[in-house]
Parts: sequence; C-alpha cells; structure tokens
Amino acid sequence: METKELPRSWVFDKPANSPFAHPRGLLGTLAGRIMRRTNRQQEVAELLDVRPGHHVLEVGYGPGVLLGLLAERVGDGRVCGVDPSPEMRDLAIRGNRAAVEAGRVEVRIGSADATGLPDAAFDRVVTVNTVVFWPDLEAGLRELHRVTKPGGRVLIAWHGGSNPSRMTRMHALPGHVLARIEGAMAGVFTDVARHELSTLTAFTATRP
Ligand SMILES: C[S@@+](CC[C@H](N)C(=O)[O-])C[C@H]1O[C@@H](n2cnc3c(N)ncnc32)[C@H](O)[C@@H]1O
Repeated sequence: METKELPRSWVFDKPANSPFAHPRGLLGTLAGRIMRRTNRQQEVAELLDVRPGHHVLEVGYGPGVLLGLLAERVGDGRVCGVDPSPEMRDLAIRGNRAAVEAGRVEVRIGSADATGLPDAAFDRVVTVNTVVFWPDLEAGLRELHRVTKPGGRVLIAWHGGSNPSRMTRMHALPGHVLARIEGAMAGVFTDVARHELSTLTAFTATRP
C-alpha cells in the first residue's frame, strides 16, 4: 500500500501502513470484515457505563460492531460515530442499517482531532484500537475533551488486557507508551484509571 498520503502515527513517527489502521479500497474492506468477526467489544460497552438517554460518540468505529452494542444500551438516546475511512462508514451503515434508518445511530466521516461535532454534546466518548494511529495524541485528547459534556466519561482502549491472544500480544504497547497516554489524559481529564479487560487495556477518565 502507498504510504505517502497517510497521516504519521504519534507512536511510530511514520504512517501505520496497514489496512487495519487506515482501511482503504478492497483490502481495507476485507480488513473491516475481519475486524467485524474478531473484535469483541461487549466489555467496553459495559465499562463505559452507558445509560438510557445518553448521547454517545465512538471515534474510529471501523466496521461498527461497538456502535450496534451502544445503540442497544442508549434507549431513546443517540449514538454517533466518526471514522476517516469511507469504506468503514459503508460497512458500519450496512451492519447497523435498522438503527441508522431509525435515526438512533449516525455514522459520519471524521477523525479524533477533527470530529466536526459540537462542544459538550456527548455523555460518553469511546475509542477502541485507534489511539496509536492518531497523528497527534494531545490534539486528539483536546478534541475528545471538547465534545464531552462536563461530568461525562471518556474511554480509550488498545490491544492488551489480562488474557490476550497471540495477535493481541503482538500489538500490545510498551509500558512507556501506555504511561504517555495515561499522562496526557490526566492533562485534560480527571479520575484517569487503567483497566485490564480480557483483550484490551483501557483508560477511563472524566471531563471536569
Ligand atoms: C484497527 S481499526 C479499529 C476499528 C474499531 N474501533 C474496532 O475496534 O473494531 C482502526 C480504525 O481507526 C480508524 N482511524 C485511523 N486513524 C484515525 C484517526 N486519526 N481518528 C479516528 N479514527 C482513526 C481507521 O479508519 C479504522 O477504522
């Protein structure tokens, strides 16, 4: 895959050259289908503590599995997602057609540092397996802070956890990168806490 126009990752200081990181074209759609089968995100939905009536944002929804799980929990609330990949938007719409048509799930193009969404609009903001692909960690966190309501909860998760598969272990981050994420979150949020889910390491925080 051509890497020239892909954004640099703040972790690798070069673009993450993988169809899972930046799904484009046929290969990207195939990567999305694989993620749809392999990524289990029930635990994330539980940790996020979504309640009926909540407005929830997912950043980097990929094939949209978590969007569907969140939609089941918000009742008459709303779920919105942003992802830079038009291929993922198509997959996420196809996977959540009824909820999208009913207006309970909105699937948009956007990124962690430019969601295009209003200030303080969401009770919960979540992103899974995307933070490493952001070009600028602090800019992404400022944007997540901006769109979260005061008192709202943010959750950032990445491969890891207490029972990782071999593939998950390959993608797990070294301690100093996890510490950098935790420290940067503490710069804009309060109550930052680390959680080991089965195959994800997650940080939760509150917007003051
Ligand atoms: C490994 S996939 C994870 C998808 C989904 N969250 C999951 O866990 O199944 C990474 C996703 O992050 C998206 N992505 C890449 N750069 C991003 C950015 N700067 N902001 C938000 N999402 C981004 C990609 O388009 C892709 O859908």
